[in-house]
This record gives sequence, structure tokens and C-alpha cells, in this order.
Amino acid sequence: MRNYLGIDLGTSSIKAVIVNSKGKIIASQTKPYEVMLPQEGWVEQNTVEWLTALKEALTNLQKDLSFFPDHIHAISVTGQMHGIVPVDKNGKALHQAIIWSDRRNEEELGELQSRLTNEEWVALTGNRPNISFTLGKILWFKRHFPELYKKTHKFLLPKDFIRLQLTGTFETDYSDASATLLMDLTSLNWSEKITKLFQIDHSKLPNIQLSTALVGTVSNKAAGVLFQKEGTPVVCGCGDAQAQALGNGIISSKDWLCTVGTSGQLFMSSDHLAIDKEGTLHTFVHGAPGKWVLMGATLSAGMSFKWLVESVFSRKYEIGELLDLASTASPGAKQLLFLPYLFGERTPYLDEKAKGTFIGLTNEHTHAEMARAVVEGVLFSLYQSYKLVKKTFGHGCRYLLLTGGAAQHDIWLKTAANIFNVPVVRNRSRGGGAYGAAMLAAAGIGDFASLEEVAECWGLHEYENIYAPDVTCHHYYEKLFEVYSDSYTSLKGIFHRLHDMGDFQGI
Ligand code: XUL
Repeated sequence: MRNYLGIDLGTSSIKAVIVNSKGKIIASQTKPYEVMLPQEGWVEQNTVEWLTALKEALTNLQKDLSFFPDHIHAISVTGQMHGIVPVDKNGKALHQAIIWSDRRNEEELGELQSRLTNEEWVALTGNRPNISFTLGKILWFKRHFPELYKKTHKFLLPKDFIRLQLTGTFETDYSDASATLLMDLTSLNWSEKITKLFQIDHSKLPNIQLSTALVGTVSNKAAGVLFQKEGTPVVCGCGDAQAQALGNGIISSKDWLCTVGTSGQLFMSSDHLAIDKEGTLHTFVHGAPGKWVLMGATLSAGMSFKWLVESVFSRKYEIGELLDLASTASPGAKQLLFLPYLFGERTPYLDEKAKGTFIGLTNEHTHAEMARAVVEGVLFSLYQSYKLVKKTFGHGCRYLLLTGGAAQHDIWLKTAANIFNVPVVRNRSRGGGAYGAAMLAAAGIGDFASLEEVAECWGLHEYENIYAPDVTCHHYYEKLFEVYSDSYTSLKGIFHRLHDMGDFQGI
């Protein structure tokens, strides 16, 4: 039996899984770390904490398994996208990681928007500028830390920093590179036009490789510290949205993926490049060679529900308990709407100034309706992406595969089926991003002919449950969805005025 190690550097924890060549998860470890919020809108992580968590996860795996690590045949990585880790020639981080949800680069975003039109950005990169993507973060860093910018050997994406620890090599892959606003979609290389226009040193960007490329082996330095066997092959890996899709078999599938984790994503894979001309959807390269991705994202999905449990209801309920309570309220939550823009919104508005909002509160509303409205509001946001993907691509999907923390509770699956009006399914493997990384390791080392073959052999298209839509309920939701969509349009001016006021600065 062959075994593969997949590592996923998430936003709140790192996960490492060992998967055998039949697709069975042999062992897994998750280690959390802090998300630091040093100032309003700033979101950072300490790379030392990442490495401590990585080391602990791998050490525990070694303790658990008597055969480990001699029987790990390949390793691959995935992780949160868009963030930056500036490193020197020795691979030492020169600054904390500035991660995807950081919103400090508003000024640089304005600069990106003023130098090229949205149409030009979309034609060049497949995407419109937004606050999360890498280029604005690099420009902020250059402006505020010119000395450190000079010392920066490479700007790495988060998962590439993790791979560097294993192999000592500096590279990225097409999937992560396509989500930086720096990659030319036609040449599949760093865009000369963009790097020149914004004066970013080409040499500070890592080489781009296929996600399945064998890019190195466990180095002598890493052996014994992180992973005992020197020389174990390491495969490049891909961004977490793509790895999540791979882990759920979304490669050549007629099914689309809806992830409700901290953030939420609507994801489809295709053989040809499809671009939303408005650029409200993201066009990325997939982790599977030759495939493209069309994707919409909502920034605060599971996070909205967590916020309700922790900040509004002061942890009176566990998440599962509050979801049970939400299930007792009727669809539409007595006409209570929730706009989940706690961190601004990506698809379809790309508006970092949008605000989270309950609309329609009355004295009849209880915790049950509020919780149901949050579930519905998050799914309405993802439904906007679904409609856009359908329009851009020209057809809908066979099944919608729901994954992430939300796939654990029926209310999310049933409500998604009724809002989207498609059968919603849950995957048996529930492997997630780390599992997708293990698939890349398996295909990258040549044990399988392709990622499709891995997905087939590992049974990723065997679904556990099918939640059929209720048409009457869907019609009701369509009416409510119209009000939901109009709400942002009506409130946009108010959101912006509130945002621009800033905090009270008195004594
Ligand atoms: C994708 C995205 C998320 C982050 C965090 O566009 O923003 O997948 O990588 O997980």
C-alpha cells in the first residue's frame, strides 16, 4: 500500500492527513493558531506559530503511526490563498503573514482601480481588483516597509512558505498565482504589463509550476525536525479553494461545489476558460492540469453564524444547538433578512465597505428566527454566485455538493436545496483541502495517471444523501431573494457613509 501526506494551512488551523492509495484516511491531525487583528481591518498571522503547529501536527502523526514516516511516498500542500509572506534568501519571514482577509490596502486598491479599467483587469487576469488579492498587499508592503521590500527575496503565498520549510525551494503553482492579480491569463506567467505599471520586481515573484509538479524532496535540514525521512518527494500543491474542490471530486464533474466554512464559495470546474466580463466572479486556474475554475465567494459564511453564537448570544448555545433551534423557525424566518457582510462582500459586489445587517426585525422574532435568517442570508449570497456562474457558463449543475462545516447539519443542506432549486448532496469522504493535497501527491508522484483517476478510484463521486428541493418553498424563497438583492442596492450609500465616518476620536 502507498500512502500520501496532504497538508492544509487553513485560516484558523493547520491540518495534516495521511491517505492510502485506496483513498482511506489513515490518520489526521489539526493544530490551531491565532488570527491577529493588530488594527482595524488588519489581519495577520505569525509564521512562527504556523511552523510550531506544523511541527506538532507532524510529530503527533509520527507518534500515532508505527510505520510513519518510512511509508509516506509523497507529500503535497495547500492553504489559504491571496496572502503574502515576504522572505529573505534563507527563507526567513521578514514580516508576519498578511492574510487574505486583511483590508488595510484600501488606498492601494484605489490605485489599482485608477490605473486600469475593470475591463482591462479582467482581460489581463480574469479578475477585477478587490481588497483580498495579493497585488494590493505587496504594494502596501512596499510603501510602508521600503527597506524590508528591498531585502525581500520572494513574496510567497502561504502554502508556498510551508513547502519551503520541507524542501528549501521557492516556487508557487498556477492556481495560487492566478489569484494574485499578477498573472497574465494568456501567457500563464507573471504579467510584464502589471509588474511594470506598479513597479514590482519580477525577480521577487517565485517561479510558477503545475500543481502536480514534483518540485523537490524533504531536505536534510527539514529531516528530523519536521519529517523524518530525507528525500521524500514533495509535489507543488494548489490554493485551498481548488484543493477543496479536488478533495470533493470536482474536476471533470457536472456537479458544482458549495463550501460553507469560515468563508463561503461557489465553485465550478471546466475544460475551457470562461470569464464573467464584469469580473464579479473569479476566474482561476484549477489544481488539475488543463482545467479552469469559475468561482464566487462570500467573505463571512460560517463566520456569520459563529459571530451570532459568540458575539450576539454570548455562547448561550453550541453551534449545533443553535442550528437545531433555527430548524424550528419557518422558511423566511418571519420575513427577517440577514445580509452577511461582516467583512464587506466579494461576489457579486466586491465592496469592502458593505456591512452586516438584519432587516425587518419585529418583536415576534426570537433567537430561532435570527439564527434561521443568518443561514438563509449566507445561502442567498452564495445563490447570487450560483446565478452568475449559470449565466456565464450557460447552464446549471446536476447536483450541488455542499461541503465545509455546514455539511454537518441538515438545515444547511435542506435550505440550500430549497433556495437553489437543485438537489443538494453530501460527499462520503468529507476530506476537504488536505485530502485534495494528498490527491496531488498521489498523482504528482505518478501512482495514478491523472487526478480524475484518483477521484474515481477513491470513490469521490459516491454521494451520501440527496436533499431534493421543495418547489413551493423555492418559490417563496425566490420572492424573498428579490428583496434580499434589492437590499444591498438600497443600503449601499448608507454602508459607505458609515464606513467613511471612521471611529470616534475624542478623549
Ligand atoms: C479564495 C479565498 C479563500 C481563502 C481562505 O478566493 O479567499 O479560499 O483562501 O481560505
